[in-house]
Amino acid sequence: MRDFESENGVMLFAGVPVTDLADAFGTPVYVTDEQRIRENYRRIRDAFSAHMETAVHYACKANTNLAILSILNQEGSGIDAVSAGEVAACIRAGIPPERIMYTGVNVSDAELKAVTDMEVMINIDSESGLERLAAINRDLPVSFRITPDVGSGHSDKVVTGRRGSKFGIPMDRVVKTYLRARDLGFDIRGIHAHIGSGGQAVEPFTDMAGIMADTVNRLQDKGIDLDFIDIGGGIGVPYRMNEEEMDLEELAFDVTEIILEETDVRKLIVEPGRYIVCDSTVLLTRCVDVKDAGTKRYIGVDAGFNTLARPAMYDAYHYVAIGNRFGKAATAKYDVAGPICESGDILARDRALPKPEEGDVVVVYDAGAYGFSMSSNYNSRPLCAEVLVNDGEAELIREHEAPEDLWRNQIVPERLRR
Ligand code: LLP
Repeated sequence: MRDFESENGVMLFAGVPVTDLADAFGTPVYVTDEQRIRENYRRIRDAFSAHMETAVHYACKANTNLAILSILNQEGSGIDAVSAGEVAACIRAGIPPERIMYTGVNVSDAELKAVTDMEVMINIDSESGLERLAAINRDLPVSFRITPDVGSGHSDKVVTGRRGSKFGIPMDRVVKTYLRARDLGFDIRGIHAHIGSGGQAVEPFTDMAGIMADTVNRLQDKGIDLDFIDIGGGIGVPYRMNEEEMDLEELAFDVTEIILEETDVRKLIVEPGRYIVCDSTVLLTRCVDVKDAGTKRYIGVDAGFNTLARPAMYDAYHYVAIGNRFGKAATAKYDVAGPICESGDILARDRALPKPEEGDVVVVYDAGAYGFSMSSNYNSRPLCAEVLVNDGEAELIREHEAPEDLWRNQIVPERLRR
């Protein structure tokens, strides 16, 4: 979690008072600090590259705004994409297809066709996917996602690597699947696994690396040499005050040591999403209502789980502060609740905060990963705006939706219009 400065009791985000940002762009609004994305990208690239050749593939599901993709393109980042839409957005942002790897799950033939038409590398998730891809296109480089039976994550809903998972090729079928791909004439480049998202321990990563190293060697015995090992993403970040950060240097050292010592593979791919964008962004939401409900006090705000789904979906913790009472002593505990008509629409529970008033700007921290990208139109609320701050200048990078956008694609049959 980052520390922020303040000026006259107002929190500064990338040098700009959050009240100015809320006034200028309206609320709710996601505000991103461009330099923080660049710093995070460079930090993780350098940590791994110190030991072996490493390509960082930003997992763009965390945020696919074209401006954010463009920042990462300038940095030279590669991409982990999960859908034809993500691949198309990355290409639109100028990222060359050869730096994009598509890792889908339960992929339809139509999607396989769409992504192969965009000429990106395909990371195959199943034996069925291999056969179906063979019928569509055998000319692009491929790798395979395995299920290493190692899991990690901030919630069970985001653990992906355990045996029985819907993701990847089960371990007992891996060698067979590679051999089949060779018979089909594929250009096989690598092996991939992703154990889950937001775990804070290094050990699951080293366990996975060991399993991948062993698999690489078993494939080598069968005459299949791989260029790269892709360890997926999932590097956790601290969301709580005083929470310890995962030791990135240790992670990089331990994982690369296993690969370098146990295999002949000399290229690593890592796919961080959260690590790159999470703390680059805050969500600004306006206090619209203050309520004492007897057993609870509420700060009612204009962002709900339509804007930030993580607390409702995963019980995820996001630190909150009142941006215009920054550093003021807390007076009571409050729940920060949104405008969605469900009792689960609580962004933060039992938070000690200074006495709020309608009009205050509530700042939700660490909202850059899976914040905007998971937002929805539920309760017919337009999607909110996104803003980028650089060098003290704030620019709109996504307009908030208008009410018309809510029904733009809907069709009312003629007979119902009479
Ligand atoms: N690679 C693959 C194949 C993935 O499936 C994911 C995330 C990543 C990389 C990036 O993981 P990260 O470094 O961001 O942890 N919506 C959830 C997270 C879901 C992650 C899905 N896959 C959340 O808000 O916590």
